[in-house]
Amino acid sequence: MSSHNLSREALIGSATLGVIFIAGYYVGKRKSKFFRMSSGKSHVGKKDDPVMQYLLNHSLREHPALKKLRQKTLEHKMSQIMVSCEQAQFMANLARLIKAQKAIEIGVYTGYNAMSIALTLPEDGKLIACDVNEEFINIGRPFWTLGGVEHKIDVRLKPALQTLDELLASGQAETFDFVFIDADKVNYDNYYEKSLQLVRKGGIIAIDNVLWSGRVVNPEEGDFDTIAIDKLNKKLHRDIRVNLSMLTVGDGLTLAFKI
Ligand SMILES: C[S@@+](CC[C@H](N)C(=O)[O-])C[C@H]1O[C@@H](n2cnc3c(N)ncnc32)[C@H](O)[C@@H]1O
Ligand SMILES: *[C@@H]1O[C@H](CO)[C@@H](O)[C@H](O)[C@H]1NC(C)=O
Ligand SMILES: *[C@@H]1O[C@H](CO)[C@@H](O)[C@H](O)[C@H]1NC(C)=O
Repeated sequence: MSSHNLSREALIGSATLGVIFIAGYYVGKRKSKFFRMSSGKSHVGKKDDPVMQYLLNHSLREHPALKKLRQKTLEHKMSQIMVSCEQAQFMANLARLIKAQKAIEIGVYTGYNAMSIALTLPEDGKLIACDVNEEFINIGRPFWTLGGVEHKIDVRLKPALQTLDELLASGQAETFDFVFIDADKVNYDNYYEKSLQLVRKGGIIAIDNVLWSGRVVNPEEGDFDTIAIDKLNKKLHRDIRVNLSMLTVGDGLTLAFKI
């Protein structure tokens, strides 16, 4: 074998390796993209998962009007943003555990979770419902009425930061029991800081999408939503103003208990 042939073989060999490497890279990328697209919600990533079906079959206790709202919302083009029913039921149980009377929801959509919380609040309880999209609210409202809780849900149609500032300005700091943060991700840290002022000691701030379909593990440059969530996750881990849990329910849920 001449040295000419050898280098030819080496060339073909490394070219083949290169093709395999590039193909592997793309397959891996496609796979990781698929992984990133799925969240653990029962109506999104785990829709066809028999274990999730079993879980729902053996635990979901959905008010009939709440079930109707879920079914109606599932017809909507953005239904994947709805909270999962299993997560909403868990948070309603948490709110009941701490005898919540005043709550805030930041990002309401059609109000599946807002209604679920309202159902567990006392007759004179209130949920401040913050959203910017009246169309979404209008889908939900008839079902809130059907469930007899419309009077407990106080909709504020404006950017949530403005509503939180108004609540603080009207002297309502430390008067809320439960806050659910589920709106635009770049404002998550602002929502958290204002919520921390608004909840009482022993109150709970629940923060949704903290795993962001897995993207937080490796935030990509320019992906400002993922970067904002990851930054808040890192800050919360060190935050001594709260006790902390991060759960894998839904798309990831952090519970911060104000000390
Ligand atoms: C993930 S959805 C909320 C889902 C809802 N918690 C549920 O129970 O199904 C996010 C919502 O945040 C709202 N939103 C986005 N930016 C906002 C802002 N700056 N202030 C208030 N709401 C906002 C959107 O209109 C949308 O309805
Ligand atoms: C869940 O309940 C449905 C309706 O009763 C049933 O068809 C299905 O087999 C159940 N699945 C599991 C995993 O329990
Ligand atoms: C919760 O906070 C209290 C007060 O700072 C602290 O003593 C306790 O260790 C915390 N518990 C956990 C599980 O973080």
